[in-house]
Amino acid sequence: MSVKESVLTTLKNNTDGFVSGEFLSQKMDVSRTAIWKAITSLRKEGYSIEAVTNKGYRLVTGNGCITQDALINELPDRYKQLDIHVYDTIDSTNTKAKQLALTGAPHGTVVIAKSQTAGKGRLGRSFYSPKDGIYISIVIKPDFDFTMSGLVTTATAVAVAESIEEICDIKTDIKWVNDVYVDNKKVCGILSEGITDFETGQIESIIIGIGINTSVEGFPKELADIAGAISGEYSAPILAAEVISKTLDLMQDIESRTFIDTYRQKNLVIGKTVTVYKGIYINDPSEVPSSRAKVLGIDENGGLMVLYTDGTRETLTSGEISIRI
Ligand code: BTN
Repeated sequence: MSVKESVLTTLKNNTDGFVSGEFLSQKMDVSRTAIWKAITSLRKEGYSIEAVTNKGYRLVTGNGCITQDALINELPDRYKQLDIHVYDTIDSTNTKAKQLALTGAPHGTVVIAKSQTAGKGRLGRSFYSPKDGIYISIVIKPDFDFTMSGLVTTATAVAVAESIEEICDIKTDIKWVNDVYVDNKKVCGILSEGITDFETGQIESIIIGIGINTSVEGFPKELADIAGAISGEYSAPILAAEVISKTLDLMQDIESRTFIDTYRQKNLVIGKTVTVYKGIYINDPSEVPSSRAKVLGIDENGGLMVLYTDGTRETLTSGEISIRI
């Protein structure tokens, strides 16, 4: 058995308490550095291992609980100083993040909750946010031109899709404009909201809201057909930390559009015939006019290039399409 396997077995047998580094190194007759390397490697594989000074290590079982400490522990050094607000339940992490942004919260401030009582979705809809989900909002103070704002959600969809793939070891797709899918079901929705400075007309903050379903147990009937949940042996703090750091990384250099190729490759809709809705509906799509169109591709700004059945073309920058007949 390798040192890593031995460390994992010992931690698995002691999940209700901490195991000291000294105990592990004596038990396995290896140095403390070797133990630390094994812990680092296990974390990279997705195990959530808590480390507390003078106590040692503890394997967080189940999906792990998102606490401020657990999250900071999993964030890379460059993001360990982020201002992080963790709630069990909140009305909406986006609402809270907006309040914080309006009172001077810095770039990268994070609000995260396990359930929301008034989760907000796109186009004025609500977002069903039952317990044990991962609901994250990140405050962005854009240093990029406001014309780039549309790419914020596009980049975030890529950050979330890649994080789920890496941490949960499951394949993800993206459905234009910003839904992340697993096995043809939506597992994550993204809502970006801007706060504009009236004096300058510039966007002074963007709130990126990310809602990840970890289970669909008890979901209302109308969502049961379309909603899915992430699966696999993942740790929630590790996944949340990955989503946050990948999203912030992509915001650093949004103009370079490094994510756009992945966004295209992962998009479920390219080449498909879809329904384009010409208006906003809350529950019933038949309330608004719609047209069938073939998706030709995605442009450099994340816009959806479509060809309608009457031969006209359009590039959609927002709105809603359906891949169902
Ligand atoms: C959508 O699919 O319509 C977008 C859903 C966005 C939901 C997230 S959950 C975290 C953040 N807080 C909110 O109130 N909404 C976003």
